[in-house]
Amino acid sequence: GLPPRVRIHEVGPRDGLQNEKEVVPTEVKAEFVHRLAGAGLTTVEATSFVHPKWVPQLADAEDLFPRLSDIGGVDLPVLVPNERGLDRAVALGARRIAVFASATETFAARNLNRTVDESLAMFEPVVARAKDDKVHVRGYLSMCFGDPWEGAVPVHQVVRVARRLMELGCDELSLGDTIGVATPGHVQALLALLNEEGVPTSAIGVHFHDTYGQALANTLAALQHGVTTVDASAGGLGGCPYAKSATGNLATEDLVWMLHGLGIETGVDLGRLTATSVWMAERLGRPSPSRTVRALAGT
Ligand code: HMG
Ligand code: MG
Repeated sequence: GLPPRVRIHEVGPRDGLQNEKEVVPTEVKAEFVHRLAGAGLTTVEATSFVHPKWVPQLADAEDLFPRLSDIGGVDLPVLVPNERGLDRAVALGARRIAVFASATETFAARNLNRTVDESLAMFEPVVARAKDDKVHVRGYLSMCFGDPWEGAVPVHQVVRVARRLMELGCDELSLGDTIGVATPGHVQALLALLNEEGVPTSAIGVHFHDTYGQALANTLAALQHGVTTVDASAGGLGGCPYAKSATGNLATEDLVWMLHGLGIETGVDLGRLTATSVWMAERLGRPSPSRTVRALAGT
């Protein structure tokens, strides 16, 4: 059966805006996060404490994060690649961080300037220190299905890195289909092997990009397997600057439309969320790619 409730992990301000050509002003980002919280999202990934030259779109993290301190009852995780990033995040009071590994060597090199094992070694002290401070740690795993340079990614290769992330002490995993090539059978095969190898479904979230229009089908396959944490990006913003052919994330509105239609609770007010994405699309100067936003907003 399907779960009665799903926790949506909203990634628009981070995964969405990191891929915009224009740098969005800090005050617009702050209003975006406030509006998302106001629409009922309880987890909003706010920004990244990465090297500002690698992701200039999020170079204002120090300026943005304190502007979110008045948002109550909403988790505001931030991406942290290394100890320098952790220092920056905890100095501002971040209570949830995410490290981000890759299932493939090519993407690890391009995204983190490291091999897969070197990047895990980089995360080890980050996760250990976070755990000591009772900071919640999410472990992203990119290229779980296909990689633009290496092609299809074998499930056992994904499971090896997933297990290492769990061994480091991550509280949850997010399985990334960074370039949006997954299909539902592949999703279920990976989830089944993860379970067999000791990673429980309760620790797994899914992170789909919609390049091939499969994100909702893949989400439904994951829900049928028992997954209850789903990543999505308001209005379908996003991509990844270091993965060619990555387009937008699964749109939060499309996800909410499906979940509510299935009678699954999310706590999200779809009208307020859609209004937020329409507002953001005006700021970005182009319409939202979300089918649900376009249908509801009549654009
Ligand atoms: P590097 O060049 O190897 O860095 O980059 P380094 O460790 O050699 O350090 C070089 C200099 O950078 C040093 O300064 C450090 O202090 C500084 P120096 O001593 O030379 O003056 N530095 C930093 N400064 C500020 N903040 C930091 C930081 N770290 C080092 N955190 C590094 C390695 C990991 C830093 C770099 O590769 C990086 O920042 N990568 C981030 C890439 C990124 O953010 N990608 C997008 C997120 S992943 C994604 O989108 C996928 C996901 O959505 C899931 C999916 O869809 O698959 C999550
Ligand atoms: Mg992503």
